[in-house]
This record gives sequence, structure tokens and C-alpha cells, in this order.
Amino acid sequence: MNTITLLQPDDWHAHLRDGLALERTVPDLAKQFSRAICMPNLVPPVKTVEEAEAYRSRIMAHVPEGIEFDPRMVLYFTDQTSPKEILKIKKSEHVNAIKLYPAGATTNSDNGVSDISKVYAVIEQLEKYQVPLLLHGEVTHNHVDIFDREKRFLDEVLSPLMKQFPGLKLVLEHITTSEAANFVLEHDRNVAATITPQHLLFNRNDMLVGGVKPHFYCLPILKRQTHQQTLLEVATSGNPKFFLGTDSAPHSKNAKENTCGCAGCYSAPTAIELYAQAFDQAGKIDRLEGFASHFGADFYGLPRNTSTITLVKEDQIIPESLDYLDGEKIVPLYAGKTIQWRKL
Ligand code: DOR
Ligand code: ZN
Repeated sequence: MNTITLLQPDDWHAHLRDGLALERTVPDLAKQFSRAICMPNLVPPVKTVEEAEAYRSRIMAHVPEGIEFDPRMVLYFTDQTSPKEILKIKKSEHVNAIKLYPAGATTNSDNGVSDISKVYAVIEQLEKYQVPLLLHGEVTHNHVDIFDREKRFLDEVLSPLMKQFPGLKLVLEHITTSEAANFVLEHDRNVAATITPQHLLFNRNDMLVGGVKPHFYCLPILKRQTHQQTLLEVATSGNPKFFLGTDSAPHSKNAKENTCGCAGCYSAPTAIELYAQAFDQAGKIDRLEGFASHFGADFYGLPRNTSTITLVKEDQIIPESLDYLDGEKIVPLYAGKTIQWRKL
């Protein structure tokens, strides 16, 4: 198959940042996706519906002429989040969910939740109003190996949480392990997961063999090949509990190529082509549309898009770098490499 046409896809997990960064990140994402869940880990974080509306307006100001883009907003869950904020989300036109970062888990997560059992009053409201809880599913204790942090989160935090709140609607974001895929499979339709292009296309060897490749460093970190294989299987299985979320996370070239490099892969400019590459390599390009354009909207209770995009099987070289901020550069995921798909 050399050409495929899909309903316009959506990105259910993306980081756009704020200020000058929006000049780069908003056009890149809006040219690829109709809607995107815009993550709230700004400095300071987006904690209320009012702040989310203000952030959405700053994003909208950067949408290129002639492109329709609908940013879907998310609040940042802190120890101080009021249970009353959840009804405000439910009634809001643009805010769809709340994101829980365990404190210290990743970029700008210092204000995250320190102990989930202390925020049960808010979680009760989430379950009651069926507002999705989006989870960065990693424990943060220093003594837990970085490659085990997702599994330990499932065992120690998420399993007890689901026993307490079995009707909670949740998305386990950017899953990286077979254990996370199985956790989602074992639960009902209220438990779903997003999967990034980097976790479908790469594993930890790509990051660590023959020298450290900082542009593959993201959190949760790339795992071994067997996990990559399971993620490919579930993503291409047609199971609606698994859908597209790039976790495109911009950091400047300097911030990545550093003695202490930042976590995040910038996949926005060619995200749908990267997913097409992964699905095609698995012999399942026909399953891309469900994953990219149907299942996320269905989970969030939003209408499916009506316009379409076309992808052609044609070589495309991903640029070495792009302009970012004031005179800086950003290195997109798989920079300088050739992929076989191009969006028309
Ligand atoms: O690699 C990551 N980058 N993982 C996250 O969870 C956050 C993101 C970011 O904001 O840079
Ligand atoms: Zn993220």
C-alpha cells in the first residue's frame, strides 16, 4: 500500500511549553494534528481552569492562518488541588482532564503529588464526574532502579488506587513496559494508555550502544527490546484502549547535549509519519487509523474528526535541527535519518 488516507489524527499527550517556544511548537503540532492534549507542566504549572483558559489563548495566538487546531487542556494535580476544581473541569468547554506527576518524576514535576493517598478526596470527585486522570506512572524513590520505576508504580500505587476507585477513568501515559500493557489489558474500558513513537520505534540499545544518544533520552526511559515488541503488538492490535500520544517534549539542543541532559524527544514535526513507519514495519499500517484518529476521541467522549489526511510511502529525511527560541536550535526525533512515509 503506497498511499493511505486517514481521518485527521489527534495527539492525546503533547508538551508545547510557553512564551517564545510556542512560535515553534504550536505550528509544528497544529500541522500534524487536529486536537492535542496540552500538558500543564509549565513553570509555574497550570493548576486551575482559569489558568488553563489563559494558556489556551496563548497557544491559539500561534496557530498558523488557515489551520484549525483545538488545544484540549489539562490541569496539573498538586497536593493542594481542591476537590471543587473537578466539577469546574467537568463543566469547562476546553479542559478535559487532570495530570498527576509523582513529585520529582520528570521535567517540572516538583509541584506534583507527594503521596497519592493524601489526595483521595480529589480522586473521589474524578471518579464521580468521570473526569480522566492522566498518570505519569513512575515511582520516584532514589533506591528504585530507573528501569523498574514504571512496574513498581503499577504494583505499589496504581493497583491499590484501582481497588479503591474501580470506576476511575484513567490514562496511563506513555507506557513503556509489557507490565503496563498487561495492566491496561486486565482492566475495563475505563483504563487506557497512550504510546509514543519513540517507544514503538526504539529501545534502550538505540540510546546506549556505541555512545550515549541524548536525543533518545526521555522519561519513562526506553526499555529493552522485548518491551518495545509488546508495545508494538498492543498498539497495532486494534484494541481501543491504546491510542496515540506523542509526548513530544521540546528542549533546546544545548539543554539535551549537556553534562546533565534534559528528558524529552521532540517528535511533533513528523509524528504521524513516525507512527506510520512503526505500524508499517509491523505489517499493520491498516491499524494506524484506529490508533491515531478514533480511539482517543472515543475515550475522551469527543466527536471523531471529519476531515482526512493522506500519507504516501515516500522517503523523507528528518532535518538535523530546527530553529527554536531566540537563536537556539532544537533536534527533532530521528534527526538526519530517512523514514519511508510523508504526510501530504
Ligand atoms: O521525557 C519527558 N519529557 N517525559 C516527561 O514526562 C516530561 C517531558 C517534558 O516535559 O520534558
Ligand atoms: Zn509528557
